[in-house]
Amino acid sequence: MKPVVFLLLLQVTGSAHSRCFCQVKGDLDDCDCDVETIDSFNNHQLFPKLQTLLESDYFRFYKVNLNKPCPFWKVTSHCGLSDCAVKPCSPNEVPEGIRASSHNKYSKAANEELEECEQAKHLGAVDVSLSDETREALLDWNKHDDEAERFCVVDDEESPDSQYVDLLLNPERYTGYKGPEAWQIWNSIYEENCFKPFTIKRPVLPNSFQCTSGSEARTFYSWLEGQCVEKRAFYRLISGLHASINVHLSARYLLDDSWYQRKWGHNVSEFKQRFDSELTAGEGPKRLRNLYFLYLIELRALAKVLPFFQQPSFRLYTGRAEEDQNHKEMLLDILQVARSFPLHFDETSLFAGDEKEAAKLKEDIRLAFLNISRIMDCVGCFKCRLWGKLQTQGLGTALKILFSERQIEALPKSSENRPSFQLNRQEIVSLLNAFGRISTSIRELKNFRSLLAEER
Ligand SMILES: *[C@@H]1O[C@H](CO)[C@@H](O)[C@H](O)[C@H]1NC(C)=O
Ligand SMILES: *[C@@H]1O[C@H](CO)[C@@H](O)[C@H](O)[C@H]1NC(C)=O
Repeated sequence: MKPVVFLLLLQVTGSAHSRCFCQVKGDLDDCDCDVETIDSFNNHQLFPKLQTLLESDYFRFYKVNLNKPCPFWKVTSHCGLSDCAVKPCSPNEVPEGIRASSHNKYSKAANEELEECEQAKHLGAVDVSLSDETREALLDWNKHDDEAERFCVVDDEESPDSQYVDLLLNPERYTGYKGPEAWQIWNSIYEENCFKPFTIKRPVLPNSFQCTSGSEARTFYSWLEGQCVEKRAFYRLISGLHASINVHLSARYLLDDSWYQRKWGHNVSEFKQRFDSELTAGEGPKRLRNLYFLYLIELRALAKVLPFFQQPSFRLYTGRAEEDQNHKEMLLDILQVARSFPLHFDETSLFAGDEKEAAKLKEDIRLAFLNISRIMDCVGCFKCRLWGKLQTQGLGTALKILFSERQIEALPKSSENRPSFQLNRQEIVSLLNAFGRISTSIRELKNFRSLLAEER
């Protein structure tokens, strides 16, 4: 169904529903895909499976250093904003297999902390033994981490400042972190890290701290169109990430904060402020389209990385063999589903030009991405910092995968040879969780579509 007629019909109604969504349909630019196919694929096939996988111990514990100083400017901490605080796990909460090297820390302080940190009860009995083989496997992961091919700063896992965080206890939701500081983060990403000359003004929403005129927006988009497909893709990925975060904040808004209850839920008016084409001078729907673009890129990475996880030597190691095996099967199933998606974005159209030029571009993009992951240390709100770091690392891992196609295909079927492509646990956890966020955002758009339709 080519939705020209359909589109016209919707435009006539002029409701908030159509202002948010009538441009968010049909074919996406720079790829052979349409929004409707992604919606139904994600909402019915991928999303439910992914949710289950991400609740497993392997994927819910993310090791992160939230205490790195901001390398670019002075940050005022938002520790006081309680909705922003992140509860780290005390070591005993993390399954033995995952924390591998840091056992035997049963200090009084750790025990007290345990009570504070909401206990993850279902962890149950933990097998504390580590076979030699596993220990070796874990060491192997670290050894193979290839600094040169990284798109993202990976926190030093051994740093005393790195902590395990239970992602299920720290959901991404509305935190109250906005205003000039939050704006500065996004502004420096877009202004200083997206290949944009200062003379070209980026379109910003009418209610933010600057205002853009229609002619500036037009200049911006014609500049963007003039960019090579790679730099355009880069901009769209960042914009898609931004949109995804805003969808989450609108879907998990703090609706009621009284002494007897705290209620989180959909705030349609917040959503409209961010995505209604009228309220955003046409920007909102473009951002939502970028969200779909980001989805496709990460989906493609998942499809490509399948051979890495199919290696018999690969394990989702937590120390409980049977569970680990089940979760590995669940993961492989998800990657197979990702592979079955009919309209994959074709990244051979990226970096396909003259070899030398392509290598330079790839390097430029890698460096810009690296820098953006450092900007995440400047996010004042810790919960936002956590999810910001996780999502940039996940996207960085997706890019690493997309540009390592040959190495992944060359992975030996047996575990004997030294593989030339590796992902460490942090990269794996961030890749799947970052995709989980985007997948949730796409699913949430369905909720907002119905909520807005009800408003009519
Ligand atoms: C990294 O980002 C900061 C903050 O936006 C910016 O000042 C700096 O120029 C960027 N560095 C590079 C190498 O892009
Ligand atoms: C929804 O968000 C708007 C801001 O966009 C805010 O003014 C309003 O109070 C929120 N509604 C609820 C029920 O919290």
